[in-house]
Amino acid sequence: MVYLTRVEHFNAAHKLYNGSWTRERNEEVFGKCANENWHGHNYELHVTVKGNPDAETGFIYDVKKLSILINTAVIEKLDHKNLNLDVDFMKGKMCSTENLVLAIWHELELNLPSGVHLHGIQLYETPRIYVEYYGEPEA
Ligand code: NI
Repeated sequence: MVYLTRVEHFNAAHKLYNGSWTRERNEEVFGKCANENWHGHNYELHVTVKGNPDAETGFIYDVKKLSILINTAVIEKLDHKNLNLDVDFMKGKMCSTENLVLAIWHELELNLPSGVHLHGIQLYETPRIYVEYYGEPEA
């Protein structure tokens, strides 16, 4: 099994704010991330697929196609957007990096051609903070 990773990038604004809490409680839990007037991040998205190289191409999957697929399925919906307000697949969710990586996984799975298997996603919110998701273990 070989693992192939494509790195993509997007900028987006968000805030971490639980509307059922007081402003004080939000500030206590989320600090500067609760700023009512938003803040932004330069996100980096690492998408890893797995498989065995094709006998004729030597590829698991054409990495240019993988890039187009990631861009169409998620990057175009996230880049230069407000995650809380503009992104259909984040509606009604807390816009944490944890929830964002779960939503990105789901969107990619819906769009991957059969025979291409998603292995993992790493989503960097800053160069020093990132989350990873590898799907749920099969029952
Ligand atoms: Ni933030």
